[in-house]
Amino acid sequence: MVSLIDVIKSRRSIRKYLDKPIPKEIIDKLIEAAKWAPSGMNEQPWGFIVVHDRALIKELSGRSIPYINKIVGKNPKFARYKKRMAVKDFSIFYHAPCVIIILGRKDAFSYQNDCAMAGQNLMLTAASMNIGSCWVGMMNVLDKDEWFRKKFQIPENYAIVAPIALGYFENKSIPVIERRAPEILRNF
Ligand SMILES: Cc1cc2nc3c(=O)[nH]c(=O)nc-3n(C[C@H](O)[C@H](O)[C@H](O)COP(=O)(O)O)c2cc1C
Repeated sequence: MVSLIDVIKSRRSIRKYLDKPIPKEIIDKLIEAAKWAPSGMNEQPWGFIVVHDRALIKELSGRSIPYINKIVGKNPKFARYKKRMAVKDFSIFYHAPCVIIILGRKDAFSYQNDCAMAGQNLMLTAASMNIGSCWVGMMNVLDKDEWFRKKFQIPENYAIVAPIALGYFENKSIPVIERRAPEILRNF
């Protein structure tokens, strides 16, 4: 059995996916794992949108890009994103066959933290099943977009927290992003 620490250390953000759908039973398992996340005051303030429709995933990406360009354009900090986005047929979801968007109920005490916990549960569970994922924060630009809210019938009190691309991938030569040594600020 693979240990949790191995899954944690081997999970990578995947930016190239195979053209192979994820079965519904697997998606159900990923959402089941997400819902077991801890949450402030046990409010469990998450909602999930599952998108398999390729045309809709493409449209989500296409509608995000103009917003992202505005942010990225001016700021030298985002230079590497500019480069990433310059590739032909760029999709913010890297052409993943499935996207799960975790939205948080804004009246909950710590909805952003809670939904991030749920997202990590989901991504680690996916990794344990050899399914790749990438948290695509770029999609947050659509949070107040009229088309998005109407198309997906987003309740007024929900905000996007964790848009996650998911899909099978070729399990080879995925670069390891080394972590810095943890900064232990104090150790009493
Ligand atoms: C809040 C958040 C937002 C992110 N947004 C994006 C994104 O929009 N596009 C992307 O390609 N990766 C995104 N990532 C993935 C990070 O770039 C990635 O986790 C980091 O570089 C470390 O690499 P690893 O996940 O492979 O360990 C995001 C990650 C987090 C936690």
